[in-house]
Amino acid sequence: MRTVREAVVPAGRSAELIPLLFSECIADPSARITGDDGCRLVPIMEGAEGAVRAMGLEIVEGPAHSEGSRPPMERIRDALAGLPPDALRKLPEKWETAGSTVSVKMDPSLEEYSEEIGRAFASALGKGTVLADVSGVSGELRRPGMRVLYGSPGESVKLENGIRYCFDATKVMFASGNLDERRRMGQLDCRGETVVDMFAGIGYFALPLARFTYPRRLFACEKNPDSYEFLVKNVVLNGVGDRVIPILTDNRSLPGRAFADRILMGYVQATSEFIPKALELAKPGCIIHYHDTFPEGKQEESVDAAFSRYCGSYKVIAIREVKSFAPGVSHYVADVRV
Ligand SMILES: C[S@@+](CC[C@H](N)C(=O)[O-])C[C@H]1O[C@@H](n2cnc3c(N)ncnc32)[C@H](O)[C@@H]1O
Repeated sequence: MRTVREAVVPAGRSAELIPLLFSECIADPSARITGDDGCRLVPIMEGAEGAVRAMGLEIVEGPAHSEGSRPPMERIRDALAGLPPDALRKLPEKWETAGSTVSVKMDPSLEEYSEEIGRAFASALGKGTVLADVSGVSGELRRPGMRVLYGSPGESVKLENGIRYCFDATKVMFASGNLDERRRMGQLDCRGETVVDMFAGIGYFALPLARFTYPRRLFACEKNPDSYEFLVKNVVLNGVGDRVIPILTDNRSLPGRAFADRILMGYVQATSEFIPKALELAKPGCIIHYHDTFPEGKQEESVDAAFSRYCGSYKVIAIREVKSFAPGVSHYVADVRV
């Protein structure tokens, strides 16, 4: 087994000494730091023994571990070991990736360490751009609140369930929690149907449906010009230009009556206001995939309350939970035949 020389750093001094070992080019950046609660073993560069001893540290011989096999969070923590313990406790532990972009949810109190955090995530995850989600999505057009921590923003392509979603995460949202629903949309049987997506975004649901279920036509309506721009790109990127017609408008201005076999209403929190328009577009027997957030356990009565207000005859076929939304509240999708 190949061995390496390692500096023995007492755990209590690792926050102070490990960054110093790296900045003085004593630690080997390509090797893995090991150890337990008592001490950290930092592989050192050839010829650095004198410098290590001069720091009052002991040297031992240990097995070589390659950096690539270490979990990224471990490498991020090592690179940021010089941050105060309180900041280290608040480091984001999860991230989302899309192509060469990574985004993290960051505690606002970490703002002053943005640069170091951005660099650490970029290097450990091998990404060119790191974004911090500072305020979630907001407003009718669901604009994201992202700040650039590292690199420069731009388009990325996220490949998911055989669909390519091209978008700029600083301009448009991407709800990773809706993954199962995006997959389900690609597993429906829509052969020969005319479909309307009233809230298409960049094509979250429209693209898998158009690509895998062979509708005759899919009208994808989107009001936000940034999302519309990516919707148009994504239609081409996924080869569904023969059946998807992107439309930049408020869905309440969509023309036509009683022509849709299926309607997607992928919008939460104000969806019921759009039921009258959906009923106008729907053919008799049309299926509406109706999304909204409801208190857990109250989804059936809530869907009934919304539809009975506008519609004399409807049948709720199924209701599924898409994701948890807030404590005691979930995002649901109801399949309703009208
Ligand atoms: C929440 S996003 C879509 C979420 C998506 N279903 C998902 O899985 O992530 C809803 C989209 O509807 C668009 N939108 C909101 N109101 C609209 C309206 N009246 N007409 C057309 N599009 C609208 C927003 O701009 C946004 O892109």
